[in-house]
Amino acid sequence: MLAAFAARVDADDPLSALEVGERPDPEVPDGWTTVTVKAASLNHHDVWALRGVALTADATPMVLGGDAAGVDEDGNEVVVHSVIGNPDAGGGDETYDPRRSLLSERYDGTFAQQVVVPRRNLLPKPSELSFEEAACLPTAWLTAYKMLFSRSGTRPGDTVLVQGAGGGVATAAIAMARAAGLRVWATSRTEDKRKAALDLGAHDVFEAGGKLPGRVDAVIDSVGEATLDHSIKSCRPGGRVVLCGATSGGVAKVVLARIYFTQVDVLGSTMGNRAELQGLLDFLVATGVRPVIDTVMPLSQAREGFAKLIDGKVFGKVVLTP
Ligand SMILES: NC(=O)c1ccc[n+]([C@@H]2O[C@H](COP(=O)([O-])OP(=O)(O)OC[C@H]3O[C@@H](n4cnc5c(N)ncnc54)[C@H](OP(=O)(O)O)[C@@H]3O)[C@@H](O)[C@H]2O)c1
Repeated sequence: MLAAFAARVDADDPLSALEVGERPDPEVPDGWTTVTVKAASLNHHDVWALRGVALTADATPMVLGGDAAGVDEDGNEVVVHSVIGNPDAGGGDETYDPRRSLLSERYDGTFAQQVVVPRRNLLPKPSELSFEEAACLPTAWLTAYKMLFSRSGTRPGDTVLVQGAGGGVATAAIAMARAAGLRVWATSRTEDKRKAALDLGAHDVFEAGGKLPGRVDAVIDSVGEATLDHSIKSCRPGGRVVLCGATSGGVAKVVLARIYFTQVDVLGSTMGNRAELQGLLDFLVATGVRPVIDTVMPLSQAREGFAKLIDGKVFGKVVLTP
């Protein structure tokens, strides 16, 4: 089958580790099932895999991709939950299973004509969502959903700041926060992404690191090193910074006094569990909010999609269709 896979890892030149070509059809372990992929979406995680951060060299070749929507063995339209974990080992939440992995870390991912997953990782795709829209949800959108609704502690009427407005997680957070009745502020390094963030629902936008008119109740930060200190500084006393990623770098310098004097909570957040993915699907159906799709391209052109993401030239999601 055709697949986009990490043939090796390369920390400095991730694109050189990517190959698009034939891979063997997957084998199906007991309790797992095959999905015919209709659409899959790129995440920064796939770039981290090529760089050898989210994937070890000895695990290559590995089909990339965590997100997909497709058709199961019985012809049902499904969304794939990409967290492979045991809820019992995580106190009822598979994202807290110490041995959990994401598709494409230990098991082949979704950038292929077929993907094999545990049966419990399939959820019915709502008919209101296209395959392309549904394929955007299981990583970036689920992560943003959990950050906003399980971790940030915000309530309708509160103010949330979303850093790095162009990213997959960030666009999801802006759209959902607005639909949930929050006041939404967003930062971006570029004028056109700030404008796009306004079109998406942000009430106000600011340059990256810029001065805000006031303090916010919570910050959604997927940028990391470049923004964390600004995120902490932007929070009201007792507010929360929810951090899920480090696109700009993983070792941040922060002023510690701002954390303890203002009693700001800095929380980590990763993906979401199956129930949260179901909640996200229901939220989109109820509100009419839909993922922002930057580009849809054939799987055979995956290299172009990766290059766009690496260059930071996307607003929303890049979708691949096998
Ligand atoms: N923990 C999890 O479960 C989880 C799930 C999903 C994603 N993540 C992580 O979250 C991060 C974002 O993922 P994504 O797929 O949304 O990535 P993305 O689409 O690549 O977005 C990253 C955004 O970060 C901003 N940015 C990048 N470099 C920057 C810099 N030097 N200074 C300021 N802003 C910068 C850019 O925003 P502007 O150009 O608008 O400024 C860019 O649009 C990644 O690190 C990813 O691994 C984690």
